[in-house]
Amino acid sequence: MAGRYKSDLNWSDVTPKDVWLNRRKLMAGAGAVALGSIAGPAAASLNARKTAYGEALEPNTWDEITSYNNFYEFGTDKGDPARYAGELTTDPWTIEIGGLVDRPGSYGLEDILKDVTLEERIYRLRCVERWAMVVPWVGFELADLLDRVGVQPSAKYVAFETALRPEEMRGVRFPVIEWPYKEGLRLDEAMHPLTILATGLYDEPMPNQNGAPIRVVVPWKYGYKSIKSIVKITLVEEQPPTAWNEYSAHEYGFYSNVNPERDHPRWSQKYERRVGGGLFARQTPTAKFNGYGEEVAHLYAGMDLIVNH
Ligand code: MTE
Repeated sequence: MAGRYKSDLNWSDVTPKDVWLNRRKLMAGAGAVALGSIAGPAAASLNARKTAYGEALEPNTWDEITSYNNFYEFGTDKGDPARYAGELTTDPWTIEIGGLVDRPGSYGLEDILKDVTLEERIYRLRCVERWAMVVPWVGFELADLLDRVGVQPSAKYVAFETALRPEEMRGVRFPVIEWPYKEGLRLDEAMHPLTILATGLYDEPMPNQNGAPIRVVVPWKYGYKSIKSIVKITLVEEQPPTAWNEYSAHEYGFYSNVNPERDHPRWSQKYERRVGGGLFARQTPTAKFNGYGEEVAHLYAGMDLIVNH
């Protein structure tokens, strides 16, 4: 990956040559989930490699995933992101990678994507508000990118920031949280193979309302840790400030691992409700670490997850 210079290509130009063929094939097939709703080369199929991750899960529909969102930069109503996120310019896109790394710089998304193999990862997504979905993300491991920029031994955490563009993001005109949206992970969490940078879903480029063109997905934590439309990644020594934790630390911890044993001060976290199950959908028990305990529980060995919520 070559950073620090401006490539002539935008990231959406970096699409495989057979894209139109595949697109036609897809449109002819039953899998033409959402192609009708997007047009143009940016809507080309991503041809993500299928993996075993989540193959047993039944994903929510494209419509559910793209019309019921939290993306407060566009408003706090669940329908606001679908209504207004189209105003965000996502190409060109650069990510500033800095702090304790060997190769800091301003990396064009096309440079970041040119060396990665996109995979499909079907993950559960559990919002702190209690709704849950299953999303077939397309992305690559965050560790791949961090390895390429060279994490220095003194780095202990990774801090992320979302774009802040008042002219394109109507929601940031209101002081809901302190903008820009910020998140952070401990380095071992960031390097965990389940943690991905997602650039699409249902084999399509990421819809703006879901965090185009690139977002973090950490499936064992409450959804707010999965920060959207990122423009900055910084490796740091101290635990970085995060948006919801700054807003209300006793409600939104830094760790935010999905945990039925630690209620939100204003509601129980013992149950959740699957989006799309209908208004009277039965609540189902919340799984610790959102069901990913086997993979991630060791990261927290010996830690009190009520104190470190
Ligand atoms: N990232 C930014 N920048 N702004 C946000 O408001 N909302 C978070 C997270 N990432 C949010 C964000 C919350 S609360 C959730 S539950 C998920 O995005 C929702 O992701 P989805 O809309 O793709 O389902």
